[in-house]
Amino acid sequence: MAIFLDSGKIEQVEKFLRWGVIRGVTTNPTILLKDGVTGGAAGMKKRAQEIAAMIAPLPLSLEVTSNDPAQMIEQGREFASLADNINVKITIHGPEGETENIEVIHALETKYDVRVNATAMMSAQQCLLAALAGASYVSLFGGRVNNMGYDAVDEISRLRELLELQGLDSQIIIGSVREINNVITWLHAGAHIVTVTPDILAGMLVHPYSKETVRMFLDDAKKCEMC
Ligand code: E4P
Repeated sequence: MAIFLDSGKIEQVEKFLRWGVIRGVTTNPTILLKDGVTGGAAGMKKRAQEIAAMIAPLPLSLEVTSNDPAQMIEQGREFASLADNINVKITIHGPEGETENIEVIHALETKYDVRVNATAMMSAQQCLLAALAGASYVSLFGGRVNNMGYDAVDEISRLRELLELQGLDSQIIIGSVREINNVITWLHAGAHIVTVTPDILAGMLVHPYSKETVRMFLDDAKKCEMC
């Protein structure tokens, strides 16, 4: 069981490393853009190298920026060579389903020894194919699954059972967390890893009743000093 941070922001990675609770970092082009990265693939590589160095030996997932199979392989190999702890994210297929990126996943893992995080998956069946193709990680987007009217818990629990039954080593990463409650629920359902935004992670800590209780302890400590 592990929590990863879904962020490309240096300060956030530093903060949660100091907490000692994260066991890896995941990014995607949308997150990196939101977190201030410019300059296309070159900018992404630079930010990834900074984060990878900060968190080593913990893993960082960096997504390729092309959907052309040959370029995905080339860029995947290049990204993986940037640091020992970089895993390469490959979407399960192209935007129109026109490229079946499962071949890319298989080639990177088996031919080029690159650890792949197969991503943008919305069902157990997609994850199973990626796992069979050899993906080290299979990323299921729980919030998006629920938004489509399916139940992420069902997908996770069936997938975990199948991976165990088939003796497949892929680790399930559940992402797209929408509510703090998703973290425990999805880990409990069988995800090996949940990747969370800085807001969700910070929100897991603070509880109004804890605040009140701590206030009481501090007030009474002060009163005690005056006794
Ligand atoms: C997971 O690896 C993804 O980066 C992320 O969790 C997707 O979340 P979203 O649905 O909020 O875009």
